[in-house]
Parts: sequence; C-alpha cells; structure tokens
Amino acid sequence: MYSIIVHGGVGVVPGDKQEAVIAGVREAVLSAIPILEGGGSSLDAVEAAIMVLEDNPLFNAGTGSVLTFDGDVEMDAAMAQGSSLGFGAVAGIKNIQHPISLARMVMEKTDHVLLQGSGAQEFARMMDVPSHNPITEERRAQWQTYRENFLRGDAGDWPKLKALMKEHPEFMHGTVGAVVVDDQGEVAAGTSTGGVFLKLLGRVGDTPLPGAGTYATKFGGASSTGLGESMMRTLITKTACDFMRMGLDAQGAASGAVNMLSNTLGTEAGIIVVDCHGGVGFAQNTAQMAHAYFKQGMAQPIAEL
Ligand code: GLY
Repeated sequence: MYSIIVHGGVGVVPGDKQEAVIAGVREAVLSAIPILEGGGSSLDAVEAAIMVLEDNPLFNAGTGSVLTFDGDVEMDAAMAQGSSLGFGAVAGIKNIQHPISLARMVMEKTDHVLLQGSGAQEFARMMDVPSHNPITEERRAQWQTYRENFLRGDAGDWPKLKALMKEHPEFMHGTVGAVVVDDQGEVAAGTSTGGVFLKLLGRVGDTPLPGAGTYATKFGGASSTGLGESMMRTLITKTACDFMRMGLDAQGAASGAVNMLSNTLGTEAGIIVVDCHGGVGFAQNTAQMAHAYFKQGMAQPIAEL
C-alpha cells in the first residue's frame, strides 16, 4: 500500500492566500499519485511533489524563496531513502529551479552526502542543470520592508531576529517537504527551502542535515518545518524515525517528535511522517501547517491548513 504526505510550512497563512496554499499542497500530491499508481518509486514521487511546490511562488522553496539579509537567495534541499539510509543534500545553492533534484543527484551520483556553496554550484554545472533566477518581485518587496524594519531596530544578532520572527511569523513560512512509502514498502523523504528571511549569508538550516529537517529509515520517514536552528539541536526527524523503529505508527511518531521539541526548546515546529506500513502522520505546535495527503484507496487527497 502506498501513501504520500506533503507540507508547505508551519505558521499562519494570511486569509487571502489560504485557498491558493491549500490548492498548492493538493496539486503536489496529485502530481505524485500517477507515479505511485503506476508502480513508480517513492523517490520519484517525492521529487515530483517537491518540484511542484518549488515552482509555486507561494512557498518558500525554489521560485519564491525568501531573501537573505544581503538580498540574495541561498536554498537548501535534501532527499533521503529509507532502505539504504541514502542521503543527498545541497546547501546555499543559487540560481537553479529545482534544488530537490540536485540533492537527489548528490545521493545517486556522488559518494558524498552534502555539497554546499560554490562546490554545489559547480556540481550543478557539471550535471548540466540550467540556470534559473528564483527571486520573485513579491519576495524582493517583502525583503525591502523587513530589512528596513529590522535596521530601524537593534540589528545584527539572532535573538533580535527571533523576536522579529515572533512578530512576523510569515518570515519562516513555506519550507516544503514530501514523504512517501511506495507499494514495495520503500520509504523516501525530501525537503526544500529558501531558509528564513534575513538569514546571514552562509547560514545553513536544518533541511539538508540528516535527522534534522529530513530523514528516512526502513521503518519510516519524516520532513520538518520551522526554525531550523531548533530542528538541528533536537534532531526532530531522526527522533520521529526512532519512535517508528520502537513501534509507534506515523501519527504517534509525529506527535511525539513535536512534543519533544515543544517541551525542550519550545519554538515553532511542524513535521510530516510516513511509516513503512502506509500510515501517515502530521503534527505541529503552531496554529497551522499547510499539508495534504493521500493513501492508496482514498477517493481524493485531503488538503488543509
Ligand atoms: N526550516 C527551514 C530553515 O530554518 O531553514
């Protein structure tokens, strides 16, 4: 039995964007169903779903990624395969359309786990990945406003930036992720993000780090969203996978992992999880997390905030 779940980030989606965000996560699931229905792999399904989200400028991944403090876009992405503990990731990648595909190439075409910065850029050139500008006018306008507001305050360090994020939770909206188990029982997970608004150049988030933003084992897989620094310190997706290894189902693992983070660092977090038996789970400690899922046999995907 196959299952897929995707997320479009934690936080509160403004009222005028809610319908489009729900349609966006539903479309991502719909793009992967024919692959799984035709006996395709969980890796192909995760990549297809995340490419749709990366192309949707509403989400903070690929086109529409948020801008760094310096006004650039540096994207992170990762792909994980459960049975082999395979993992491929890129960090700080610029000027490409689908970071998730490059992350998969790192896993499948190199002996490494994570390429970053100029090395990742060079790898993209080697793989003939075409150049693409992911910066949208809307994101640039937001960046200008946020940066001016930030500079009017006492700028330059994370506690101040975190206070700003509390005031404007939209800062960290829209990391995207997908987790799939195919009908062979193979689990795959992927995550893609522009990171957080006004991040310092060179900042790497949780998304490309195994066990932080993305992880998969033969028992299940997970993709998280929220402030990356907290995910890195709690290894939230590894925690969810460990819970499944100990016998919890996907929903138990998702709830347990978010509770763990809430009870330790207490920052905003969300996670999507699939177990190897076809169960899906999701949990967040924020008002909303855009997500959609489909389990073989359902008439339609469920998509909601
Ligand atoms: N969770 C996305 C980031 O902090 O980069």
